Amino acid sequence: MARIPQSFIDELVSRVDIVEVIDARVPLKKHGREFTACCPFHNEKTPSFTVSPSKQFFHCFGCGAHGTALGFLMDYEHLDFVEAVRQLASIAGLEIPQEAGEPRSDFAPLSAVLDQAARLYREALKASPEAVTYLKARGLSGEIAAEFGIGFAPTGWDTVLKALGGEEPGRQNLSAAGLIIRRDDGRYYDRFRERIMFPIRDSRGRIIAFGGRVLGKEEPKYLNSPETPLFHKGRELYGLYEVRQALRDIRRLLVVEGYMDVVALHQHAIRYAVATLGTATTSEHLQRLFRVTSEVVFCFDGDRAGRAAAWRALENALPEAGEGRQIKFLFLPEAEDPDSVVRKEGKDGFEARLKEAVPLSSFLLDSLTARTDLGSLEGRARLVELARPHLLRLPAGVYREMLITELARRAQVDSGKLTMLSQTQTSGYGEPAVKASPAARPSLTGPMRKAIALLLNRPDLATLAGDPKALEGLNLKGAEVLRAVLEFARAHPHISGAGLIEHWRDTDIGSHLMKLAQAEMVIPGDAMESEFRAVMADLEGRRPAEQRLTALLEVSRQRPLEAVEKAELSNLLKARPGDPGVPKP
Ligand code: UTP
Ligand code: MN
Repeated sequence: MARIPQSFIDELVSRVDIVEVIDARVPLKKHGREFTACCPFHNEKTPSFTVSPSKQFFHCFGCGAHGTALGFLMDYEHLDFVEAVRQLASIAGLEIPQEAGEPRSDFAPLSAVLDQAARLYREALKASPEAVTYLKARGLSGEIAAEFGIGFAPTGWDTVLKALGGEEPGRQNLSAAGLIIRRDDGRYYDRFRERIMFPIRDSRGRIIAFGGRVLGKEEPKYLNSPETPLFHKGRELYGLYEVRQALRDIRRLLVVEGYMDVVALHQHAIRYAVATLGTATTSEHLQRLFRVTSEVVFCFDGDRAGRAAAWRALENALPEAGEGRQIKFLFLPEAEDPDSVVRKEGKDGFEARLKEAVPLSSFLLDSLTARTDLGSLEGRARLVELARPHLLRLPAGVYREMLITELARRAQVDSGKLTMLSQTQTSGYGEPAVKASPAARPSLTGPMRKAIALLLNRPDLATLAGDPKALEGLNLKGAEVLRAVLEFARAHPHISGAGLIEHWRDTDIGSHLMKLAQAEMVIPGDAMESEFRAVMADLEGRRPAEQRLTALLEVSRQRPLEAVEKAELSNLLKARPGDPGVPKP
């Protein structure tokens, strides 16, 4: 899919009004210059959720949730970034342009034929007593079949072809959508014949592919759509759309192997089940799962194949594990699958098993321990060797440190001796999946923070500043951020505070801005301009002192400072503003 140009996102975020976007979903009350409500992200009785129209930013003092209109949609509607941009664009009535240079791809015709085919399959199911009997025998109600859009591809080689094929262009769409197959002689036939049809939907509910199951014992048991421009097997999760329709708050997701497992679990009121599509779990799957929940349980058969599949899932999951993200493994008895277990034991029985699911850490260390003899020194050394590559794939952080400590305990070595495990560069572990714990609002001490916070409220103030290059001599923390914001805001006169934050999403500058956006602005709106002028003058006035300071620090690296120089240095340091991050001499 073509990338959405950053310039469009900047404009979009600056054009919408966060108050309108949130108010349509969570009714807001005006409270001074801000708007408040009970926070939709945690349970509370008194409102601590605040929306600032000037910054175009929301913040909850209770749970720490915060962000722009885009971030709100992602969290509130469980959307990924691109989905949230689309949603926001449709709210704003803007059309998303394609990135220049990329071919304009048009998925609409494929989507349309897939929809038509799904309708045809659903009608055919009603007309086939045999298929209905099959689904009933597998314990499915009409309601759940309808919810999942289950249908039936009738017998015959050209049902879809005849009904939807039409002229040449139509045929091309059917073929590109994977519904018909071209023979060597140039003629076409239906891919799916005499199969129960499971539509696979994307996160917005649009059908992108099908899986089809035979009624009897023929091979292959399941036939899936091929990879198409709309369908990439390794990304999609069967049932995720249906989960999101059924649940507002997704506390956990259960990942199973089969279509029937998902549908059967939903039938038994376990509404948090999804399946990968006959592929191993990829890290892309994991990322999508953790966008909407903080706990993922993988469910596998108890046999050898199931264990092997679980191990593969574990390997792909390691880079995504960490604080605030729970990953667990549930093993079912041999020859059972989630479908058979939930039909025998019901919701309660199944959930009782879920309670016994093994955390990733135990599954990893237990599996490796089982392969070594902890009674011997060699065995314990081998355990460390076996564990090392896996632990290194975990994101650096508390979770990894804890696993290293546990490994050390099992191998009976001092965990300090295992430091070779922890002394590696950090991996690109992005935002934590859980919200920051409620913290006091950052204070706006220091001119740098104040200047940036003012710009977040009134980006147009940037035009009042002198040349941003004047900030070059300042090695105060935040100087580069201020400079970048000044330059960008000047070049984009209509940008909003939220637009600035989104422009630098997922970068250091962005997280700095996010932090400052949460700070309280006690400056009245009409005083912002004079305040900004004052703070900028203050910063520019510091330049000579800062340059002198830098020079003295440089000298101190070459030779010991003389007494006067030492005194001067210490005075300069004392006179510095209270911004943190001052390099120590
Ligand atoms: P299983 O063979 O475990 O089947 O395949 P199942 O889900 O239990 O199906 P039922 O209960 O017999 O109807 C698990 C998954 O592997 C993929 C499908 O996604 C299936 O749901 N698969 C399996 C295929 O793609 N093709 C096959 O021939 C078999
Ligand atoms: Mn099964």
